[in-house]
Amino acid sequence: MVDLRGQYSHIKSEVDEAIQSVIDSAAFVKGAKVTEFQHHLEEFLQVKHVIPVGNGTDALQIALMSLGLKPGDEVITPTFTFIATAEVVAVLGLTPVLVDVDPTTFCISVEALKKVISPKTKAIVPVHLFGQNADMEQILSIAKEHHLYVVEDACQSIASRYTFSNGESRPSGCMGDIGCTSFFPSKNLGCYGDGGALFTNDDDLAEKIRCIANHGMKVRYHHDRIGVNSRLDSIQAAVLDVKLPHLMEYTEKRQAAAMYYTRSLQSLKELILPQTGEQSTHVFHQYTLQVTDGRRDQLQAYLKEHDIPSMIYYPIPLHLQKAYQSDRYGEGDFPVAEKLSKTVLSLPMHTELDEEQLNYIVEEIKRFFN
Ligand SMILES: Cc1ncc(COP(=O)(O)O)c(C=O)c1O
Repeated sequence: MVDLRGQYSHIKSEVDEAIQSVIDSAAFVKGAKVTEFQHHLEEFLQVKHVIPVGNGTDALQIALMSLGLKPGDEVITPTFTFIATAEVVAVLGLTPVLVDVDPTTFCISVEALKKVISPKTKAIVPVHLFGQNADMEQILSIAKEHHLYVVEDACQSIASRYTFSNGESRPSGCMGDIGCTSFFPSKNLGCYGDGGALFTNDDDLAEKIRCIANHGMKVRYHHDRIGVNSRLDSIQAAVLDVKLPHLMEYTEKRQAAAMYYTRSLQSLKELILPQTGEQSTHVFHQYTLQVTDGRRDQLQAYLKEHDIPSMIYYPIPLHLQKAYQSDRYGEGDFPVAEKLSKTVLSLPMHTELDEEQLNYIVEEIKRFFN
């Protein structure tokens, strides 16, 4: 699905040198490289604070910890996402309230979200799924009306942008109170291990987040709040600092591959191809189509036989996962997510796809249907 070795081959000397310089400095944890990368990302996103942490899941957990929520408080999040989004809510003793997604963007349905707001609701965690932003204009307006926090799960959407109806354009993850991202190797900006970050323009929240990520301390061995240990290590920061200047070029390569898929497959009536919401750009963390004739699994098996990888993100929505069952909902309650889990298929998507590979993939898909 990704070609990290191919991508590395273009930046090998820069990456090797950056890693070597961390080894030479022996500043493996909290080194200068982490601060350098943090500032470069702040500049790139035009956000006041980037707080690097150990991974995207930690980023989401720390974000919720910083909001001072209490057990039983409700956090609304989509049922069609990676487990981490709801997992951190449950881990903190908060109540995940799952809702259905929009059939066009696969992001949280604003109509569904409105219906579940209760006096216990304290936060909304929209997920910018597969690389495009949820309907942030509406979400922020609902949050304002009901005094709710908004924590963006931007783990799949770095470098995508959202334009508000007043013409203002903002980067993904920098619109709500806090944004969270992941630098997992296959992400659009990926390191060579685990990594993540939080974004915020709020000075008080930034201070709390830094404190929580560092065992709840500001002054060494003085623990003002309950925290965790979550750090981006210097070697990962060095890799990310080499890759960040390439991020827009990487994004354009993904978008070009997506356009190729769309152009080549749009005549197949058995497929619904990815659509982008009006106010967002799409950075195609995934190119996810829907197979509408019931043969999704057969297509996947056919592609496998022809050495073409594909993935089902996500085969089971969260409300049907054993660990997340609730009296609130059951099978049939979130028809869009349930249908997507049976029809979606993600095609290879990365920065190294060339025309020959793309052509091979689309020709095999066409052959399957003809
Ligand atoms: C939507 C979403 N949320 C959260 C995460 C968690 O990130 P990580 O794997 O870095 O913990 C991921 C990435 O896997 C993700 O795709």
